[in-house]
Amino acid sequence: MIYTTLPHTDLEVSKLCLGTMTWGKQNTEAEGHEQMDYAVEQGINFFDTAELYPIPAHPDRYADTEKIIGNWFKKTGKRDQIVLASKIAGKAPFTSFIRTTGFKKESIIEAVHGSLQRLQTDYLDLYQLHWPERNTNYFGKRGYKHDISDFWQDNIHQVLETLRELIKEGKIRHVGLSNETPWGTMRFLEESKVHESLPRMITIQNPYSLLNRQFEVGLYEISMREKIGLLAYSPLGFGVLSGKYLGGNKPENARITLFPAYGRYMNEQAVKATQKYQDLALAHNLSLPQMALAFVTSRPFLTSNIIGATSMDQLKENIGSIDVSLSEEVMKGIEVIHNEIPDPAP
Ligand SMILES: NC(=O)c1ccc[n+]([C@@H]2O[C@H](COP(=O)([O-])OP(=O)(O)OC[C@H]3O[C@@H](n4cnc5c(N)ncnc54)[C@H](OP(=O)(O)O)[C@@H]3O)[C@@H](O)[C@H]2O)c1
Repeated sequence: MIYTTLPHTDLEVSKLCLGTMTWGKQNTEAEGHEQMDYAVEQGINFFDTAELYPIPAHPDRYADTEKIIGNWFKKTGKRDQIVLASKIAGKAPFTSFIRTTGFKKESIIEAVHGSLQRLQTDYLDLYQLHWPERNTNYFGKRGYKHDISDFWQDNIHQVLETLRELIKEGKIRHVGLSNETPWGTMRFLEESKVHESLPRMITIQNPYSLLNRQFEVGLYEISMREKIGLLAYSPLGFGVLSGKYLGGNKPENARITLFPAYGRYMNEQAVKATQKYQDLALAHNLSLPQMALAFVTSRPFLTSNIIGATSMDQLKENIGSIDVSLSEEVMKGIEVIHNEIPDPAP
């Protein structure tokens, strides 16, 4: 395993972070526990979860993933070996069963307390805002469209004050963003620069993969200049970058077969690009998922690459990508395909 530190902290984290969002729906509790056991054995010490998980979100299984992780901490006693990240759900029609009060002070406090209880721990190492409250472009929206009916009031100062309170109480240690835009990221950073007692966002968890490199427009520069590290999510584009959907295949029990609404990475251009990346990987005796993951892990702005798996074979292949380094020729090949079909799946 390769390690780095969370920006602005001395917390050491593995360059591969274990994603958890399938546990409780596609995976059972026992399977989740087996994944954590194996990942830790392989040197992974960083887990990412959310009150929203498992996906797809549903009131009947609300926050079951956190409960699965909490039971594993209780069983193994390994809480202190793990850097643990969770998130408060944003406002959305599909989260109205969680709460409809967004990031109001009471909402954040309630969300943190709920996560701590389910995770059977006294503190979270990293607490993230899952997605912005305002109307902006995330979750596959390519461009920003200004909505004049958007009545969002800039509450960033208040959100940071609430997070500061939770840090003071020792319930969370650090804070981060997710699905943020360059404007939102700088707005949060600016607030904590002007008001030095406010906590600073240290990470940004956004999508990043061979099919979606939009982070490089705007956020790459911010990441380097402001030292806010990327926690890359969906590095395999929901599994599309395994190549298993190519040729119109619908593999049994795979995410997009089960939940066709998750078509974010399956448009015509994304499929075309995936075919080209697969040809490149095969030409260099690489497995496509390992090439795709090694690419993400190698990026200079990356703090940790959040991998996801629904089987132990997938998990082993994905963790194995840490030993794959891509030659100059492969990197050039990737750039050629990227220039031909840039960011097909925003
Ligand atoms: N902040 C956010 O909004 C956000 C959004 C998404 C994810 N995340 C975080 O990021 C983590 C990873 O995201 P993700 O699950 O979307 O990542 P991903 O790497 O894009 O997709 C993972 C899925 O692809 C399939 N897969 C994985 N490895 C494979 C392999 N070697 N061969 C074939 N198929 C393989 C599996 O699904 P099937 O077996 O079903 O095909 C697996 O669940 C999540 O668990 C979560 O912690 C955060």
